[in-house]
Amino acid sequence: MTPHMSGKPDDDAPYRSGELALPVARMRQAGHHAVDLVVERLQNVADEPPHAAAGPAELETLLHEPLPEQGSDLISLLERLAQDVLPLGIRFDHPRCFAFVPTTGNYPAALADLLSAAFLSVPGAWLVGSGPTRIELTTIAWLRELLGLPDGWGGLFVSGGSLANLTALAAARDHHLAGDLAGARLYCSTQAHPSIARAAHLLGLDRAQLTALEPDRAQRLDPRALTARIEADRVAGLRPFAVVATLGTTSTGAIDPLAELTAICRRHRMWLHIDGAHGAALALTSRGSHLREALGRADSLTIDPHKWLFQPYEAGCVLVRAPELLKNTFGMARHHLDAGYLHPAQAQGDEINLDDYGPQQSRGLRALKLWLSLKTFGAAAFRRAVDHGLRLADHAAARINDHPELVLVTGPGVGILTFRYRPPGTATTDPQALDRLQHTISRTVCATGQAMILTTRVQGRIVLRMCTINPATTPTDIDTALDLVLQAGRTQLPM
Ligand SMILES: Cc1ncc(COP(=O)(O)O)c(C=O)c1O
Repeated sequence: MTPHMSGKPDDDAPYRSGELALPVARMRQAGHHAVDLVVERLQNVADEPPHAAAGPAELETLLHEPLPEQGSDLISLLERLAQDVLPLGIRFDHPRCFAFVPTTGNYPAALADLLSAAFLSVPGAWLVGSGPTRIELTTIAWLRELLGLPDGWGGLFVSGGSLANLTALAAARDHHLAGDLAGARLYCSTQAHPSIARAAHLLGLDRAQLTALEPDRAQRLDPRALTARIEADRVAGLRPFAVVATLGTTSTGAIDPLAELTAICRRHRMWLHIDGAHGAALALTSRGSHLREALGRADSLTIDPHKWLFQPYEAGCVLVRAPELLKNTFGMARHHLDAGYLHPAQAQGDEINLDDYGPQQSRGLRALKLWLSLKTFGAAAFRRAVDHGLRLADHAAARINDHPELVLVTGPGVGILTFRYRPPGTATTDPQALDRLQHTISRTVCATGQAMILTTRVQGRIVLRMCTINPATTPTDIDTALDLVLQAGRTQLPM
């Protein structure tokens, strides 16, 4: 038996032309099949439960297999992925999936990912991808317009909010600290996203150098507490350099007081970064238009199109008031390794090398999905879709407020609300039993396969949490989910 037939590696055999390609007819057939699978999924998402899971042992049996030394049929592989593998997880586009910050994706965006992968689009150096670079620059300009940011703001697409926060804070560090981290202090509230702490760590700040302040009762960064802390730190000889304000905290959707925080940062010559990964999209709507001025006065902003702009993963964006500061941090030329091979790719004249503005050199054309979906559906449809999420949250809040067994705790602000089930009559008021009850309700609702509602913690107490930003969700879906909460709460009684 030859090594080839035994399935063992045959390193000595020469590459046979076409071994890593498919015949044209087969490519078309597999491509059509993939599109059929995608369309089927989009059509049927509401008929399936919002969450499907399998345990590690089951999945190991199903998916842990030896390196496939020989190839197999592509269409069968696509089938298997679509049937057995990719559906396992949260279906964020399910109309009754209210978990975390769901994105829905959209069909043109999925095609954009296919195209940019097939065309090997790299908006890195102009030489490498001038068309892709121009698409990204145009998409950034559209985002600027959608958010009402002044001319001059710029930035780039990154994998998501975590990398956007890291990228902005790297520029803030370099701009304010000039290479000396001693005594540096970065501020946020305890409600900021964990990616802020991760960014601080990656940027070389130790735990004491990130000050996370307790929020006020509305879960917002308290400007008075912040001022007091900055002033005390200055007196102690420390170097406050940046504040992170969150526009739409992940847990409760709180909006930190942006105008006051801007004033504090201006007074103390500090950088204001706004993490609007989820909530910045609110500025697209007339209800959120008051935020636009505050956004434009910040130094940097995170927005995640893979949240409330309905894009598939990965699509994050970092925008800064002075884009040249990104270049100061990331520009290839500032580093001193021998990169002679990059000279041919240096930007000439008014060419722009976007890889000078962020941490990646080879970068995918993430902007294309937003570009293609904005062109296909129009910005007006996006604005209406964001507003729809706000109306759904209003509807949920009204139903909760109207019901004696439900208590609204926070929201509905940026399409996120938290609430509790409160047992009627003589049932327990023991806080810990009530906390356990909320957990049990969440698990019971999820187990019905009808809706997905998870929990969070507000002021030390467990609450149910819904994020209502899916354009396919209807008020009836909200009612159904809340009915499931009531049923689950009642069946747990008496405690
Ligand atoms: C406010 C906020 N910032 C940052 C992030 C991190 O974004 P990503 O998961 O895209 O890295 C999230 C994610 O939910 C978020 O809600």
